[in-house]
Amino acid sequence: MDENIVWHQYAVNKHTRSEQKKHKPCILWFTGFSGSGKSTVAGALESALQQSGVHTYLLDGDNVRHGLCKDLGFSNEDRVENIRRVGEVAKLMVDSGLVVLTAFISPFQAERDMVRTLVEEGEFIEVFLDTPLDVCESRDPKGLYKKARAGEIKHFTGIDSDYEPPVNPEIRIDTSRLALNESINTLLGYLKDKEIIG
Ligand code: PPS
Repeated sequence: MDENIVWHQYAVNKHTRSEQKKHKPCILWFTGFSGSGKSTVAGALESALQQSGVHTYLLDGDNVRHGLCKDLGFSNEDRVENIRRVGEVAKLMVDSGLVVLTAFISPFQAERDMVRTLVEEGEFIEVFLDTPLDVCESRDPKGLYKKARAGEIKHFTGIDSDYEPPVNPEIRIDTSRLALNESINTLLGYLKDKEIIG
């Protein structure tokens, strides 16, 4: 960082923005294998939150890779940079007072921990989609596991690229055992318990 670049503190900030809303800002960080249910659960939770007047934004891996991260692939290095960028964007959104939902494989604990440090205590909620790999592979919603097994996609998470399960996630959901409405109720219950939503 250039020593001549100095942070400018404005009168309007996260706390003054939050006071105008009925909820507190946070990041719900969904992590898990492709096909584990990240986008489905995050999307359904966002709909439920929006119906109760909560201001949200969902950052989705496939979607972000169409724009902000279109220059990145799936090497370990590129995945690290992907999560760094998304973490910084999520931080800005938290600063704007939103409940941010992110759906990225985000395979490495160090990068998830790094994003946690970008926001205040309690604002980063790690949601581990703990759906077994064999279930994710049997779902194969985009046919990507089949291509990975055939060697047509390299560095596919769970096949020939690592996934480090969260060590101590705030919430753990196995979508092969829990119905979608049960997952949503678990998440809404957590947010109410922590007084993030009313
Ligand atoms: S990461 O690891 O967090 O940077 O990945 P992410 O940005 O979430 O992108 C994952 C989606 O990209 C598609 N895809 C792959 N995933 C894993 N490995 C490889 N090699 C790969 N190639 C393409 C896939 O559709 C992922 O979406 P989800 O929603 O997880 O199925």
